[in-house]
Amino acid sequence: MAKKGDTLVVRVQNNLTEPTMVHWHGIRLPANMDGTGEVQKPILPGESFEYHFIVPDAGTFWYHSHQNETVQMERGMYGGIVIEDETDPVMDNERVLVLDDMKLTSNNEFKQHGPVGQWIERHDGREGSTNLVNGKEALTLHMHAGQSERWRIVNAASARYFKLSLDGKPFKIIATDGGLLEYARTETELLITPGERFDIVVGPFEEREVFSINSLPYNRVTMLKAKLQKYATVHVMERKESIAALPGKLTEIKSLAPQDAEVNRKVKLSVDPSLKRIIDFRVNNKMHGMDKPVMVGDLQVWEVSNTSLMDHPFHLHGFFFQILEENGKAPEYKAWKDTYNLKPRSTIKIAWMPDNRPGKWMYHCHIIEHHAAGMMANFEVINPLNPVTEKQESFHGCHI
Ligand code: C2O
Ligand code: CU
Repeated sequence: MAKKGDTLVVRVQNNLTEPTMVHWHGIRLPANMDGTGEVQKPILPGESFEYHFIVPDAGTFWYHSHQNETVQMERGMYGGIVIEDETDPVMDNERVLVLDDMKLTSNNEFKQHGPVGQWIERHDGREGSTNLVNGKEALTLHMHAGQSERWRIVNAASARYFKLSLDGKPFKIIATDGGLLEYARTETELLITPGERFDIVVGPFEEREVFSINSLPYNRVTMLKAKLQKYATVHVMERKESIAALPGKLTEIKSLAPQDAEVNRKVKLSVDPSLKRIIDFRVNNKMHGMDKPVMVGDLQVWEVSNTSLMDHPFHLHGFFFQILEENGKAPEYKAWKDTYNLKPRSTIKIAWMPDNRPGKWMYHCHIIEHHAAGMMANFEVINPLNPVTEKQESFHGCHI
């Protein structure tokens, strides 16, 4: 937990037997702190690395391994980060719920697959039936009747689409990836795809109410079909006074561009037949490709399309974007996003502003197995007046 504007200093000590790196998902930090192979050397076993950066935005963020992710993230190398601000609405209580599912053997060990299982996992992404909230299975939460709580939800799963339901009870969505929405939205279901965050307000409830935190089946066109998954149980205890207050307007979100802004880049996510691997996961027809650079201060209007028959959550590192349209229609509400689900055969138009944080960045599908299979690209943000030199790059972080 930190306050908006704080400097976070995190020393990562690698006690694994393999290299690692840490990515700070959603935080607008300098490129050299982004924790990807393009901007730092992996932290070798026995080594440590100190990340330090300012956290400029309030909201719910998370960190995770960005090396051998299909194993390291699945084994739990992630955590939530809360950045607070005085403008946050007052609630009776706050919780961070980091969701994950693991596929384990009957001895609760990481399940390795044979070739067919591996192939399905590459196609679908890895899902399991050990459902975890903050690393715990079958969690029970207690809250007081009459109170309202802010739940900050992070989907840290490799591939599970979490369609939140509290046994049909309504809740209010107040924030997403990049912080507060302008207005709360009342819903009974909410799709949270891998990498996304949503903050919701739950309650007030009556004494002795009991309900589950479930993920409803969502058909993202996988080979294995989705089922309802239970994650946790909530027990409502004795009544307590409430000080919670949700203002009518939570914040102001200025539009970056009009809906009809001219597209200056196309990004195509596709799943294509392949001679070697049956199918390939690609961006603009390349696996692990390099996209064109962008200039600091040049508004980016990207058309991101998914030509495949399955869903992909698109994640842009280091910058928030706004959805200008989805399949030609303006979105229902304004929000700052860094991860957004692309349904099969769909197209979104997004706008984002490369502020003065030059360096190498990336975007990718946040189904970790698709990312690993190649559905990603790197690109550079260039400041023509002040190009980043190698020296400056190595100045900020330090291998210890
Ligand atoms: Cu959470 Cu490269 O992503
Ligand atoms: Cu994908």
